[in-house]
Amino acid sequence: MSEQEPVIGIDLGTTNSVVAIVQGGQPHVIRNRTGQSLTPSVVAVTTAGKRLVGQLAKRQAITNPENTVYASKRLIGRKASSDQVRRARETLPYHIVAGEHDDVRVQLGDKPVSLPEISAAVLQELKLDAEAFLGRPVSKAVVTVPAYFNDGQRQATKDAGRIAGLDVLRILNEPTAAALAYGFGKQVTGKIAVFDLGGGTLDVSVLEVAKGVFDVVATGGDTYLGGEDFDNRIIEMLVMNFAKEHGVDLRKERMALQRLKDAAERAKIELSELGETNINLPFLYTPPGGTSAIHLQATLSRAKLEELTQDLVERTVGIVDTVLNEARVHPDELREIVLVGGMTRMPAVQKAVRRHFQRDPSKGVHPEEVVALGAALQADALMQPSSQLLLLDVTPQSLGVAIAGGYNRVLIPRNTTVPTSTTETFHTSRDGQTTVKIMVLQGESELAHQNELLGEFILSGLRLAPRGEVEIEVAFEINSEGIVSVSARDKETGLEQSITVTASGGLTAEELKGILEEQADSMLEARISSEVEQKRNAVSSAAAEVAGLIPRVRQLTGSSEFGREALRRAEEVIASARKAAQGEDLAALTDWVDQLERTRVLFVGVLERLGARPQ
Ligand SMILES: Nc1ncnc2c1ncn2[C@@H]1O[C@H](COP(=O)(O)OP(=O)(O)OP(=O)(O)O)[C@@H](O)[C@H]1O
Ligand SMILES: [Mg+2]
Repeated sequence: MSEQEPVIGIDLGTTNSVVAIVQGGQPHVIRNRTGQSLTPSVVAVTTAGKRLVGQLAKRQAITNPENTVYASKRLIGRKASSDQVRRARETLPYHIVAGEHDDVRVQLGDKPVSLPEISAAVLQELKLDAEAFLGRPVSKAVVTVPAYFNDGQRQATKDAGRIAGLDVLRILNEPTAAALAYGFGKQVTGKIAVFDLGGGTLDVSVLEVAKGVFDVVATGGDTYLGGEDFDNRIIEMLVMNFAKEHGVDLRKERMALQRLKDAAERAKIELSELGETNINLPFLYTPPGGTSAIHLQATLSRAKLEELTQDLVERTVGIVDTVLNEARVHPDELREIVLVGGMTRMPAVQKAVRRHFQRDPSKGVHPEEVVALGAALQADALMQPSSQLLLLDVTPQSLGVAIAGGYNRVLIPRNTTVPTSTTETFHTSRDGQTTVKIMVLQGESELAHQNELLGEFILSGLRLAPRGEVEIEVAFEINSEGIVSVSARDKETGLEQSITVTASGGLTAEELKGILEEQADSMLEARISSEVEQKRNAVSSAAAEVAGLIPRVRQLTGSSEFGREALRRAEEVIASARKAAQGEDLAALTDWVDQLERTRVLFVGVLERLGARPQ
């Protein structure tokens, strides 16, 4: 190793975390101080108040379920009141409490602990492992996150690094890291897909690889689909059967639940090799009053497991379809499908992937280690200015701002290569509007409240003027780590406000709708789009044409009842259409163009029949 300070790569997983480093040009995993390459992402506090991390924490989970935190990556950067967290609460034996800003905290011993602090404990453990291995201090790292992580979740992960005393040089998307490690030392050219099903999340990405350039073409996934869900299906079945047989609801028994979870995961893993396995949990439940304990004994077959989890496997495959469609990639064009994540060891998952991509997935990468190896390669590349490695990541979701009427105006569409920036000019939506509220949204819905609010700020001191006169330029910038900055500038005065988005996200649609309604007076209005402009022109020329026919139609038919009625209606249509042309309602404009066209056809027909050909 050179004198250069070492930089480690860390895969901070839902279930397991891995640390790796490049030495002598080769990436390899650093084993932890107990000799394992995977460190469970588990943090606990013992009754004596001692903090445990990793294998030691996992081992005592059964006897200390309430103070043992696992799968915390599913909660990081989310709101305590969100549906996902509410659902997680039902299956997690530890206590989740709401922080001051509705952020999630975990009650550990007598203290509520924030999620970045939990992740920090795991990061710190890996840092110590790396230091023990290298025999020198380590203070810099590249940390991976699911591609689908939003800005708040990325920020929270960076915070975790800071708390752990690690300078996080780069947040890297897990599938990109996997592709990097997969492509290392090979001459890979072409499109590859990465299918990563881990403990908590599914990530599917398509990358274009050529001469050390890794260009993410599309990415998609679900931050709530992973091994935990498969385990839960087994737990649900066991709990249901137990309730049927003994009339006892085990979900209320924290210690029993932890043992069930352990047994369920073990059974799932065994069924990747075996056709059938036994689940034995002696003394699982002791009824009050000292009657003898009840044991749980069950047999689970691979076929039954596949039946219980069929819809989960279907969901993973549906996401594959979406991502391929978006990337406009036909499975035939893919050079390789790289399977990542412990769950891809399950035969049913492999079968589904094979069926969908219509080929055998690649062998030869270690599904649990490949992400950390990629992070180490990226860390190494960052330290070498002459590095040949170039990563082109994409935005996982669209970014935009809320505009008048409760709509979302997208400024950066999803799957745009980062770093990227864009600006768009808006104007005020009301007469005399002196402030605008910039609400930064992430998501795909046209309706503002159905997206996630990333952050908001106010630009005030605008000139008192009629609606539409004051112009505001909004600029978005996303850096190569996917972190978003937004600024707004009053074009007249040059006055500017900006934020780096730091919100932890997770407002419910209802809450966001309420906020939008409250803020209706200070919304931005988008410039008229070219589509609206075109339709307006179409309305006015169609209206002029119909108006031009009116005198001759009146001449020929004005004395009849039918004629008078038709003329009256035509004039109404013209007036209403011209009024609609002042607005921006695209659907209404299209409708008026249609109505004018129908009137024109009617009039032309009448004139032809009555022998007065229109010129
Ligand atoms: N042989 C196996 N068969 C089935 N499942 C397995 C097997 N080995 C591990 N798993 C499951 O894989 C999951 C862990 O995978 P991995 O270590 O890749 O996840 P992670 O990186 O912690 O999670 P994520 O990437 O979602 O953050 C667990 O749910 C585990 O039960
Ligand atoms: Mg993983």
